[in-house]
Amino acid sequence: MESTKQLWGSRFSKSLDKKTNDFNSSLSFDCVLYKYDILGSIAHTKMLFEQNIISNEEKEKIINALNQILNEINEGKIQFDFEYEDIHTFIEKLLVDKIGDTGKKVHTARSRNDQVALDIRLYLKDEIRNIQKLLINLIKTLISMQDDNLETLMPGYTHLQRAQATTLSHHLGAYVEMFKRDKKRLDDTYSRVNILPLGACALCGTPHNIDRYKTAGYLGFDDICLNSMDAVSDRDFIIETLSSISLIMTHISRMAEEIIIWSSFEFKFVELDDSYSTGSSIMPQKKNPDIMELLRGKTGRIYGSLINILTVMKGLPLAYNKDMQEDKEPLFDSINTIKNSLFILPLVIKTMKINKDNMFNALKQGFIDATDIADYLVKKNLPFRDAHKVSGSIVSYCIKENKTISNLTTDEFKMFSPLFEDDIYEAIDFKNSINAKKVIGSPSIEAMKKVIEINKNWLKDNEV
Ligand code: ARG
Repeated sequence: MESTKQLWGSRFSKSLDKKTNDFNSSLSFDCVLYKYDILGSIAHTKMLFEQNIISNEEKEKIINALNQILNEINEGKIQFDFEYEDIHTFIEKLLVDKIGDTGKKVHTARSRNDQVALDIRLYLKDEIRNIQKLLINLIKTLISMQDDNLETLMPGYTHLQRAQATTLSHHLGAYVEMFKRDKKRLDDTYSRVNILPLGACALCGTPHNIDRYKTAGYLGFDDICLNSMDAVSDRDFIIETLSSISLIMTHISRMAEEIIIWSSFEFKFVELDDSYSTGSSIMPQKKNPDIMELLRGKTGRIYGSLINILTVMKGLPLAYNKDMQEDKEPLFDSINTIKNSLFILPLVIKTMKINKDNMFNALKQGFIDATDIADYLVKKNLPFRDAHKVSGSIVSYCIKENKTISNLTTDEFKMFSPLFEDDIYEAIDFKNSINAKKVIGSPSIEAMKKVIEINKNWLKDNEV
C-alpha cells in the first residue's frame, strides 16, 4: 500500500511501521528550517523558469503558493504534521495540496540531499550574523566598563594567587580581545558556510540545464560547491560553526567563573544586581550567582554538540547517509544556547556593583609590590636575576616579621641593598607602579586609553 505521506512510497508495498516512522522523521525538529526551505524553493523555481525548464505560469503558481505557505506558517495557520518525514516533504505536500501537479515540478533538478544542505547553510548565514551582533553588543558593554574603570585598581592573579597590581579596565580588556577574535573567527566560518550546495541533487548532479550560479545569486551565496558529492556529503561547515561557538563559550565560562569568585564572600569584588541573582530556599542570607553558573554549565552542552557531530561524521562513506539527520538537534540547541548566553551576559555585568574599595584593599596584602622592587633595582642597574633575589629576601623578611613591604623603613630596605633610597616608596605605590607600565598592552591609563581608542575604531569596522 502506497503511503501519501512519503515521497518515495511507490516502490514499497507496505507503509512504514508507526514507531519506525516516528523514529525516521525529523520534522519535529527540522520544522525550524521552514522559512529557509521555502526561500530555497522560491530561488530554485525562479532559476528553473529562467532556464526554460518550467513555464512562466508554472513559476508564478509555485512562487505564489510558496509565499502563501510561508505566511500561513508564520501566522500559525498551519500545524506541522509530524507523520511526514521531514520539512522538505511537508512543504512539498502543502504546495501540491494548494496547486496540484504543478507543485510537483519544484523538485525538478533537486533532491532532499542538496535541499537539506542548502537549508542549514541558509539558516546558519542568518544565525552567524545574529551571534555576531550579540558579540558586538557584549564588546561594547565591556569597553564602556573599561572607560569607567581606568583607575579601578585591583590585583592581577596567576595561579589564583595575587601577582601584580592592575586595573579592572585592563582585566576586562583581556575579554574584549577574546570576543573580538571570536567575532572574526565567525567571519571566517561564514565565508565557508556561504557556498551554495543546490544543484548537486542526490549526489551526481542533473541532466537538466540548470544554472547554479543564478540560484546562488538569488540566495546571496558567494560561490557554489564545485563537487556534487562533496556538496551533499559534508557537514564540516556545521562542525566549524560549533567549534567557533565552543570557543565563545570557553571565554564566557572563564568570565562567568571569575564573576562567581569575585562575588563570593571571600572576595566581595562585585555584587550582582538582585534582578540577576537568586536566593536560597533554606539559607536566607544567600545571594547566589546562578546565572553565571548556568553560563559556565551550558558550556558542556555546546562542547557536547561539537563532539556529537564530529563523531557522527567520522568514517561516513560518501555521499549522503541518514546519520547526517543527527546534525540538527545539537546544532539548533547550540545556536539557541549561545544566543541566550550572549544576550544575558552583558545585562549581568553592566548592572553588577563594583566594590572598588575591596578591590584596592586586596592589593595591600600578598606582596603584590615585590616585582616593583625588582624593577626599581633594575633601573638602578642591578641585573634582573639579582634584583629578583633581593626582592625575594625582602618578602621572606616581611613574612617573618609580619610586615608589609610598604611599611618597611628606608633603613630596613638598605639592609638588603645599598641601592635603595627614599624614592622606593614612589616606586611601590600601586598607582605609580601601574602607570609606569606605558608599553601598549599594559595597564597604565595612557596605554589603556590608546587600546580603547583602537578598539572603538575596530567596532566601527566591524558593524554587523
Ligand atoms: N531529513 C533528512 C536530513 O535531515 C533530509 C535528507 C533526506 N534524504 C534522504 N535521502 N533520506 O538529513
